[in-house]
Amino acid sequence: MGKPTVFVTRRWPQSVEAKLKTHFNVVLNAEDKALAPSTLKMALAQSDALLPTVTDRICASVLDVVKPRTQIIANYGVGFNHVDIDAARRHGMIVTNTPDVLSQCTADLAMTLMLMVARRAGEGERELRSGTWDGWRPTHLMGQKISGKILGVVGFGRIGRETAHRAHFGFGMKICVYNRSKVDPSVLARFNATQVDDLDDLLTQSDVVSLHCPGGQSNRHLINAERLSKMKSSAYLINTARGEVVDEDALAQALWFETIAGAGLDVFDGEPTIRPALMNCENAVLLPHLGSATRETREAMGFRVIDNLVAFFDGCEPADRVA
Ligand code: DGY
Repeated sequence: MGKPTVFVTRRWPQSVEAKLKTHFNVVLNAEDKALAPSTLKMALAQSDALLPTVTDRICASVLDVVKPRTQIIANYGVGFNHVDIDAARRHGMIVTNTPDVLSQCTADLAMTLMLMVARRAGEGERELRSGTWDGWRPTHLMGQKISGKILGVVGFGRIGRETAHRAHFGFGMKICVYNRSKVDPSVLARFNATQVDDLDDLLTQSDVVSLHCPGGQSNRHLINAERLSKMKSSAYLINTARGEVVDEDALAQALWFETIAGAGLDVFDGEPTIRPALMNCENAVLLPHLGSATRETREAMGFRVIDNLVAFFDGCEPADRVA
């Protein structure tokens, strides 16, 4: 039997594409632009594996191909809410993701956003580059100190824990956790963290709220107008999870009327389109989905996809099977 054919929806780091080619017949998207549903359908009909990313919506209608050849959807990324898992199952396809390898870098980016928004780094850079900075003065761009404050972590999986680690050991922050299931007390003890059963309790006491829960329908607008109104007026919201977790119209209102102090966002509902209302908020730091964007991590993600594919085509269970 020849090598399986794998369809890669976006360009990957060179070293990963090279390794992929040693194992498989590789179809690349030379233009590296998000693909139309019709192209994704064609890929499902003609390839043994589809290797999508967060920019591909693998919904039920895309998966509805008369005779799909694809047996495995090996996602490049940990979040897989862009893949309709039930529809994939119905078509006999398995789905894998790439956990662990991006946790540290995503947590680093959550800290970056936290510091940038609290220390008004975005505003400062915009001022300097526009040529309007007229020198040091005691009241210039005063932000807030992060050290020693309370960090509320929503979702205490791998990335949430890495963020708590950095905040607690690096900045002496006190950690409050909200998580769907009970977190092992020995894990909480590592960060001297407390878990609350009610999200509102976390929102009312935290100086910074950092989101690390999955996207998808069950968490859509978890942070809505009512929840934002529970936050302190001095508090910051950080989102490196998924855009849809936050009602962004409500957030823009909260930022505009300063019912919270600021937000640091790396992900957006409907990205790469950004709501003008958010774009115009000076007290928001907006980054283009950079959580895992280091060379080391993007390579590790690709190698993790290859491990899953190799296991699957060798007849073994891929380590990161999610469906
Ligand atoms: C992830 O891995 O989920 C990143 O957000 C990119 O999709």
